[in-house]
Amino acid sequence: MKPNVKTFFDGVTFTASHVIWDPQTKHAAIVDSVKDYDPKSGRTSTDNADQIVSFAESEGLSVEWILETHVHADHLTAGPYLQQKLGGKTGIGSRIDVVQGVFKDIFNAEEDFATDGRQFDHLFENGEVFHIGALEATAVHTPGHTPACVTFIVGDAAFVGDTLFMPDFGTARCDFPGGDARELFKSIKTILSLPVETRLFLCHDYGPNGRDYQWETTVGEEREKNIHVHDGVDEDAFVTMRAERDRQLDMPALILPSVQINMRAGEMPPPERNGKTYLKIPVDAL
Ligand SMILES: [Fe+2]
Repeated sequence: MKPNVKTFFDGVTFTASHVIWDPQTKHAAIVDSVKDYDPKSGRTSTDNADQIVSFAESEGLSVEWILETHVHADHLTAGPYLQQKLGGKTGIGSRIDVVQGVFKDIFNAEEDFATDGRQFDHLFENGEVFHIGALEATAVHTPGHTPACVTFIVGDAAFVGDTLFMPDFGTARCDFPGGDARELFKSIKTILSLPVETRLFLCHDYGPNGRDYQWETTVGEEREKNIHVHDGVDEDAFVTMRAERDRQLDMPALILPSVQINMRAGEMPPPERNGKTYLKIPVDAL
């Protein structure tokens, strides 16, 4: 089974959003959408998401799923906007409860902010099978970058979120609250145990050394060439490398707005008494 895939790349947050569809039934899923956010003005817009809406409409796609591989720390999800425009159910990994618990505390979210994932329409258990039209899909928990990370395997393709990047860029960081390099190594090995010809679709690319942006590779290519986890790299060496590299990384520019919105499935925090919505900056908390 070979799903069709069309990718939309946001050059501001370096995020690749994927539209997956069954060529027979035209049923579709959207993975890791982006809502535009300007941190200087606090304004949001939907330029990226509108490209997906136009594409889905022009192809006559019927959207069944609006999926997140994890609670992103570098961009806002457009999940609620896309759902309003195109329909479908929102979904994320069932360990979202862990992430919500950690960040409810960090952001001192309102008392009744639920930390059981109920803001999403569906929570995927590890190994859960679901369908996109006639395509069979499996959600596999691949924690490490965050506790709630999921890879969606659809036919001969896997949507790996932030686990692996292109072979010349390596792997995702593990230093956010709840991240764990040992877990990420195991998760990556699970992905790399898929057939070598499996197409891998990534959530980000940063175009290292001036190359063009790319978001698709294969299991075989990653096993041969990934600079962090090619065949032969052992777990301890990976964990040591990851810890060293993570120490040098700045926080993503949008981590504070992103997480407090994405942990709510893309909805804004409740408005204050004047009817306006505000985002919080926790001081010295990260
Ligand atoms: Fe991420």
